Amino acid sequence: MVELTLPRNSKISGQGKTYKSEAKGDAKLRTVRVYRYDPDTGENPRIDTYEVDTDGISMVLDLMIKIKSDLDPTLAFRRSCREGVCGSCAFNINGKNGLACTTGLDELGKGDINIYPLPHMPVVKDLVTDLTKFYEQHASIQPFLQSDEVPEKEHLQSPEERELLDGLYECILCASCSTACPSYWWNGNKEDEGLQDEEYLGPAALLQAHRWIKDSRDDRTEERLAQLDDTFKLYRCHTIMNCVQVCPKGLNPAAAIAEIKRMLVERQGQKVT
Ligand code: SF4
Ligand code: FES
Repeated sequence: MVELTLPRNSKISGQGKTYKSEAKGDAKLRTVRVYRYDPDTGENPRIDTYEVDTDGISMVLDLMIKIKSDLDPTLAFRRSCREGVCGSCAFNINGKNGLACTTGLDELGKGDINIYPLPHMPVVKDLVTDLTKFYEQHASIQPFLQSDEVPEKEHLQSPEERELLDGLYECILCASCSTACPSYWWNGNKEDEGLQDEEYLGPAALLQAHRWIKDSRDDRTEERLAQLDDTFKLYRCHTIMNCVQVCPKGLNPAAAIAEIKRMLVERQGQKVT
């Protein structure tokens, strides 16, 4: 039988605290359970419970901001735009990754709300995860235009060529997809094992790789495909499709990965003939 060793301090065993909004007559109290972890204390993570008055609140991020400003200023989480644009407020909300600022309370039913950090990522504090590896993987696919052509003014693109980028350019790098993928959990970060050459890039980085492969202005298609033709970087995708289920922008990283695989088969055929 396989035996797994859990990382130190990964078990939720600390005694959680409870906070409650001052209840006025017709207060609409809702129970929110939030993962808490502060590495400086040396204690294991705990779940704190907040009874929050939701009157006038419709989105999960607004609820979290209310908790922080009214009940518990020590709660740490990232957010910026409140409009589903910056990608910083991605958490695991009631078991599903997504953006707190675009998730309505009405989408979560009537029960308690559970908010955890993005799964399987190192936690810096509370809901703030360390995305260093995620960004390194994005950087590794060279997400910028590369072309030997030096245009007089700018690289031109027809409307049809531009349309090919629809469903790809909209990614906000929130990491919801990659951190929902079991293959990424097991293969996304092997630094501790000294096996960096055997890492899976994950759906977000591969969607971006496909975005640059499809860009008519970029002339590094061959180099980009050659870089991805790798047992681990690309072929650790097993079409589990969690990425598609959770993407808050409605994108389809699995289809992008499948298209890269198809292009690699085609490229292989061209090499043979
Ligand atoms: S593909 Fe979707 S879920 Fe993945 S990083 Fe981009 S916006 Fe987030
Ligand atoms: S705060 Fe920017 S995407 Fe949610």
